[in-house]
Amino acid sequence: MRQDTQLKEKQLDFPYPRAKATHSWLNVDEALLYKMEWREDSQLSKSGVQIPKWHFAMLNDAERNDAYQTAIASIDLQDKVVIDIGCGTGLLSMMAIDHGARHVYAFECDKQIAQKAHQIILTNGYQNKITIIDSKSSEGWHPSVEKGDVLITETMDCGLVGEGILESIFHAKEHLLKSEASILPGRAKVFAAMVNSKDLHQLNHITKVGKWDLSAFNSFSTKGHFPVRSHIWDYTFASTTETLFSFEFQNSLTPECKAKCSFVSQVAGEVHGIMLWFEVELSNGVYLQNSPQNLNSHWMQGFISFEQPILVSQGQTLEFEIEYQDFTYVLKNTAAIGKK
Ligand SMILES: C[S@@+](CC[C@H](N)C(=O)[O-])C[C@H]1O[C@@H](n2cnc3c(N)ncnc32)[C@H](O)[C@@H]1O
Repeated sequence: MRQDTQLKEKQLDFPYPRAKATHSWLNVDEALLYKMEWREDSQLSKSGVQIPKWHFAMLNDAERNDAYQTAIASIDLQDKVVIDIGCGTGLLSMMAIDHGARHVYAFECDKQIAQKAHQIILTNGYQNKITIIDSKSSEGWHPSVEKGDVLITETMDCGLVGEGILESIFHAKEHLLKSEASILPGRAKVFAAMVNSKDLHQLNHITKVGKWDLSAFNSFSTKGHFPVRSHIWDYTFASTTETLFSFEFQNSLTPECKAKCSFVSQVAGEVHGIMLWFEVELSNGVYLQNSPQNLNSHWMQGFISFEQPILVSQGQTLEFEIEYQDFTYVLKNTAAIGKK
């Protein structure tokens, strides 16, 4: 892990609720936090109810909340029916009502969270304007739900697609929305760059400990992208940044996607994987992104680790086929190495 103090100063700006690190050379709490988040751990409350722990960090992410608030304020919601997919606490639904929506139908597939959303909209006095539906937006038929004029959703993971946003929007366009409905977010891009980082590679691979060969354990390695808080690990970018995918939610959208991506190596040495992040345009000119430079975001970056480090020379082109499968990006071809 990185040990420089300058970086530590930056880490303290992070919006996560966490104790300050007590060692200047080892940021123990960051490491623990990382472990908890990667496992998408649940928070066991006093009542014994489990919800994904990242909800709190997400709800405290002012950049995220402000961007959604600004985007929601920028579209014409007057007298409109809004569909909110993945409403969580109901925060975005309440924003939509405040900006003129006639009614919001808010889907939440986690029954316990949906129940809590009911309680929250009651507490805040929105019960006549927001209907919480405790089901996945794509499951079942909901006769009481009017077709929406506007779709609002914040169902993005560090790599954009891991919470099923492609499938959810695709389904909503077919079944839950009027044909001219506006969609928020309107478009998105996923960026990627190769990195040199033994640290990141070791989050997903093991070779030897002392004299013991543990490499058989690598069959458990994560094949797709997984979240990493990049700035706490030693890494260097080893290529230019490329656009992996571009999505136009409003117009063409299909949940099937594959990309051929070429990276030109800027280093001579080993490369260990591909770091990726997204940028969404929520509405005209309102952006949200989780690039490695954005230390304010609760979203981590995504990382796809190569099975083995790849030795490259400077200027060499590496080509990869990356496919979206089961809510993750998988490398289909790690071996195709282009010419120098
Ligand atoms: C990232 S949270 C966002 C919560 C809330 N929209 C906000 O912005 O604060 C996404 C929530 O969507 C739910 N979810 C994801 N996909 C869904 C779907 N297709 N239908 C219903 N709920 C969904 C998850 O259970 C989770 O609670």
